[in-house]
Amino acid sequence: MAARQDLPAHVGIIMDGNGRWAKKRGLPRKMGHRAGADAFKKIARYANRIGLKYLTAYVFSTENWKRPKDEVDSILSLLRSYLDEMENYRRENIRVRFIGDRSVFDAGIQAKMARAEEQSKDATGLTLILAINYGGRAEIAHAARQIARAVQAGRLSPEAVTEETFGDYLYTAGIPDVDLLIRPSGEYRLSNFLLWQTAYAEYVFMSGVLWPDFKPETLEEALREYRSRSRRFGGLSASDS
Ligand code: IPE
Ligand code: IPE
Ligand code: MG
Repeated sequence: MAARQDLPAHVGIIMDGNGRWAKKRGLPRKMGHRAGADAFKKIARYANRIGLKYLTAYVFSTENWKRPKDEVDSILSLLRSYLDEMENYRRENIRVRFIGDRSVFDAGIQAKMARAEEQSKDATGLTLILAINYGGRAEIAHAARQIARAVQAGRLSPEAVTEETFGDYLYTAGIPDVDLLIRPSGEYRLSNFLLWQTAYAEYVFMSGVLWPDFKPETLEEALREYRSRSRRFGGLSASDS
């Protein structure tokens, strides 16, 4: 399939509604996460096929540790098996990156993450960014600490701390800002996802769908909505002037 010209550069997705999907079916929440992981794999492949350049998915937030231990364990176990499948991405020309604080994970998970990134680093198709133990505020605080260290060491002057330099200290350095942010499940909030990077994103909240039911057609629906928006970035659109 030829890369499409009408796509946003960077799509962010808050994959929400796994628990409610399971509850509706009388299943344990972990079955919802499993179905959610399957939906995610299909969406990632589809995004790559249509020529999307960047897709960031919210997998696990810094706040999700508040959930019962068995739920957290089941999410981490899904993550482990998914990381093992990731070598297929190299063949599909998908590049994988992780954002978030990975230092809290055991050495096995961290090694799998590093391997997935290394194996796929030369891929030129979709860059698939997984936000794991990610929080927007934690990311900004982390960047501020790094900047403070650089200034203290004399490697950076305070005047050089501009919006651009600040962005270089975020986990998403080198990745363009989010153009389109999608959240299914009927929650209308960011839940600490990509706070800095969504400053001028278009938000598409899809209340009629829970994440495990999210299909390529649902993504297309969000992309259509995105195309109908007029982005002005504080200026005027062609028809205003
Ligand atoms: C999103 O689904 C997955 C994670 C947060 C890990 P939820 O588990 O939040 O599903 P709901 O919101 O309870 O339905
Ligand atoms: C956001 O969903 C985190 C992920 C999808 C990974 P939550 O379900 O955790 O968000 P809240 O608690 O409803 O804000
Ligand atoms: Mg939720």
